[in-house]
Amino acid sequence: MDYKKWLEYKNLKYLDNRLYFGEVDVIELVGKYSTPLYILNEQRIRKQYRDLKRIIDSEYKKNDIHFSVKANSHLATLRILKSEGAGVDCTSVGEIYTSLQAGFPQDKIIYTGNMFTNNDFKYAVGKGIHVNLDSISQLKRLVKIHDELNKDKDMISFRINPEFGAGHHSHTITAGKNIKFGILDNQVIEAYTKAKEVGFKHFGTHMHIGSGVLDPEEYKKPFEKYLDILNNLADKLNISFEFIDFGGSIGIPYKPNQESFDLEGYKENLIRPFVELVEKGNIGNPTFKFEPGRYIVAESSIIITQINTIKDNGFKKFVGVNAGFNTLIRPAMYNSYHHIIPCQILDSNIKETYDITGPICESGDVLGKARNLPILQEEDYLAILDTGAYGFTMANVYNSRPRPPEVLINGKDSYLIREEETYEDLLKKQKLPIHLK
Ligand SMILES: Cc1ncc(COP(=O)(O)O)c(C=O)c1O
Repeated sequence: MDYKKWLEYKNLKYLDNRLYFGEVDVIELVGKYSTPLYILNEQRIRKQYRDLKRIIDSEYKKNDIHFSVKANSHLATLRILKSEGAGVDCTSVGEIYTSLQAGFPQDKIIYTGNMFTNNDFKYAVGKGIHVNLDSISQLKRLVKIHDELNKDKDMISFRINPEFGAGHHSHTITAGKNIKFGILDNQVIEAYTKAKEVGFKHFGTHMHIGSGVLDPEEYKKPFEKYLDILNNLADKLNISFEFIDFGGSIGIPYKPNQESFDLEGYKENLIRPFVELVEKGNIGNPTFKFEPGRYIVAESSIIITQINTIKDNGFKKFVGVNAGFNTLIRPAMYNSYHHIIPCQILDSNIKETYDITGPICESGDVLGKARNLPILQEEDYLAILDTGAYGFTMANVYNSRPRPPEVLINGKDSYLIREEETYEDLLKKQKLPIHLK
């Protein structure tokens, strides 16, 4: 994609050399708050959800999109998606609690945890929330908790690991024999046989191959395998499925030379083979479930950070900013690329190569390596792009640095949706034993 078009696609543009995100002048906004500042764009979240929903609807009407809360768990994000008709997928009790607080009814929430404790089960079953089991061994405990709480054993599903995974980094590939998630092909019949024996009456399946897949071709192998497993399961145990869940995984173009994900390819490699299988009449009339996180929210957010130090050590030029891997951990954790641009262009012709580094006391606190940028000055602002997914949810207080504020923009309006944390917040839960007081 041409660079200007790529920026436009990200809802970014320069007007009179000042950066706008959607309709908002970023420098003006930053004047009202402190930096680093997460800016979240409501209209972008809505657009991403609608684009995806339209594509799935065009092939198979009986579908539910469950937004993956781990990507962005702010109540505002959840309320926006709820108003669009989305459900949610949660990986923990904390995410379920947040989703309930956001107003999702229990039948719009699914719980895809792993290494569940009895308390996890108690919370979910008690609230009537469907759990995707991650291991055959968990079935016994789930049944016990149903009995203890006097709840009907109605629907059951297992997360199936199709042994072929994909993702932008090895840590985000979630299928394969040596990966902790789900049950393997050779365990599937046993799992559902046992589930039938203990009294479950309705069945679903789950799968999630990984996160950050930009090439739809990468879905082919895992999805073929998954559908084979389902066909076989339906045949052998005479099961028809209430739902089939395909997890999340769609990536976004973090780099200017990358194209956005081809939703048509997704249709071809995933939705159509699924529809063909359903049409054969062997697996029932299931709901198609999908759990995207990154695709819906990544491009909805940028971080604004201020330059405090420009250091030339004679070997390299460093731009020191006030956001670090406490604010955005993806570059340090996954070697991820986030495009970084100035909020104001003074002279766009002369460029310099900089490493953009945060204030964390570790040499790995680099947000961008060898970036070609216009000449920068101390106190200038930079925008770090595509931070809406796994951005704030992975932010932390390492080095005792409070987490930053978040602002939601909608058209020309802006709303503070999270206050900046304070030093007092850092110590709130700490207690001293009497002899140290
Ligand atoms: C079970 C499950 N579902 C959905 C997702 C969302 O993935 P993504 O953000 O790549 O769409 C994840 C994240 O890895 C996940 O673990």
